[in-house]
Amino acid sequence: MTDKNISPKLPQKFLSDLETAIGIKAIITNHDDIAPYMVEQRGRFVGETSLVVTPQTTQEVSDVVKLCAEHSIGIVPQGGHTGLVSGGIPFAGDNAIVLNTSRLNKIRAIDPVNNTMIVEAGCILQTIQEHADNHDRLFPLSLGAEGSCQIGGNIATNAGGINVIRYGNTRQLVLGLEVVTPTGEIWNGLRALQKDNTGYDLKQLYIGSEGTLGIITAAVLQLFPKPKEQQTAILALTDLDAALPLLNQAQEMLGDALTSFELLPRIGVDFSLKHGQGVVDPIEGRYDWYILMEASVSLTDSNLKALFQNYLETAFEKNWVQDGVLAQSKAQSDSFWLLRENITLCQKAEGGSIKHDISVPVSSVPAFIKAANEAVRKMIPGIRPHPFGHLGDGNIHYNLSQPLDMDKQDYLDRWEEVNRVVHDIVHNFNGSISAEHGIGRVKRDENQHYKSPVEMQLMKNIKKSLDPKGIMNPGKLIRPN
Ligand code: FAD
Ligand code: MLT
Ligand code: ZN
Repeated sequence: MTDKNISPKLPQKFLSDLETAIGIKAIITNHDDIAPYMVEQRGRFVGETSLVVTPQTTQEVSDVVKLCAEHSIGIVPQGGHTGLVSGGIPFAGDNAIVLNTSRLNKIRAIDPVNNTMIVEAGCILQTIQEHADNHDRLFPLSLGAEGSCQIGGNIATNAGGINVIRYGNTRQLVLGLEVVTPTGEIWNGLRALQKDNTGYDLKQLYIGSEGTLGIITAAVLQLFPKPKEQQTAILALTDLDAALPLLNQAQEMLGDALTSFELLPRIGVDFSLKHGQGVVDPIEGRYDWYILMEASVSLTDSNLKALFQNYLETAFEKNWVQDGVLAQSKAQSDSFWLLRENITLCQKAEGGSIKHDISVPVSSVPAFIKAANEAVRKMIPGIRPHPFGHLGDGNIHYNLSQPLDMDKQDYLDRWEEVNRVVHDIVHNFNGSISAEHGIGRVKRDENQHYKSPVEMQLMKNIKKSLDPKGIMNPGKLIRPN
């Protein structure tokens, strides 16, 4: 039974037409069954709706959208539900239902000669990676949530992850899209072409649109040759500034074989060792910073290992690093990545964590971290900065764990105030307040604060022309007028 007080109030005709269109199996109205779709990763908000639908085909998605458009009911597209900006849940007053793509999950085709794959939005990222691998190809998008996030959500958020330095964001990995528009029309843009210069590049509008312009139902993905050799190292630094020449030297000596260059702070290593399962300290002694880096080549007889060893020798000669380990086995390399993954997961166990997903020019990362640390320590004595992430592309998760002696809620109540101080510093470095997670609901007003009126108006014009009724993910990314 739906809870009568929860929006949207759904007309009986809407529900009966819906059942005819997609079948009762795809319709969830029981409050307890809806609940798991309403939570969001950060645990800061709980969504509210009276209906979740799980269509299985593009045509069913189109039928749902047409009915919602007819009745002016909002739709929140939802994939794996791992988003970090509350973009995939409806808020009270949104008058919206959830359209979850989990059952729209066929791999439609793979063409290893063309290096492309056609997948439906509900395919889990890891499934796509494995399917490519089974066909001796690589789909390089890789992030901590890959076991549950779906490619539709990855495209809608233009997800980044750990391999951006070599392969780019999701935006660079999509050749074509199939989208259901806010009037329920199906745009078939599933062209598997490297070149297609026939007007506006419409797919680029939908990539990163966070469900506010239409529902992505399928995509043509770019595949790459499968790496034949991979080298992984973890390096210890006392001076964060040394990370910059270290990166440039890697680009110099390893070229585009470099695929990942991640920053780990000592506090993150400590949290992971304390709260993580099976996490080991990779290097004797304690250092302020660590760089986890990886390079790979798809050539058969490459000399990657020798190149990597020469690079490490140079790093030691120049005293950029104080210690380091080149993985001697896949198991050892996996242990480094387990440490990195736990850097994200273990923050929760240390109490309140105020989050930032920022980017600045790579050359400004150390200066940004220093300036932000100074500012937040002045604001909240005892705060524990925990800056980590994708240093290779300038994206730092500048997360802040609460002071040990502070009440968690009192600390989290200062989220917006702290965000503004940190985002002002990001702005001064010509950076972005959202590097890869998107805007959703939680950063909507902050984004409006920093975007120029011209840019905001251009985005609103696009939203207005593509979704005139404003039914697509209402209230997300752009504030309704
Ligand atoms: P959801 O959370 O379901 O939805 C996200 C947004 O996309 C919402 O606005 C939703 O409305 C929209 N959407 C979903 N499906 C569709 C569709 N078919 N059509 C249109 N709009 C749609 N993100 C990174 O970029 N890099 C990282 O390294 C990273 N690491 C993470 C690590 C962990 C442990 C976790 C929990 C999350 C991480 N994330 C990261 C965030 C998250 O995984 C990504 O944003 C991911 O792309 C979201 O995919 P999803 O399927 O879960 O989308
Ligand atoms: C990651 O890179 O692990 C995530 O994007 C960071 C996060 O979950 O905050
Ligand atoms: Zn990240």
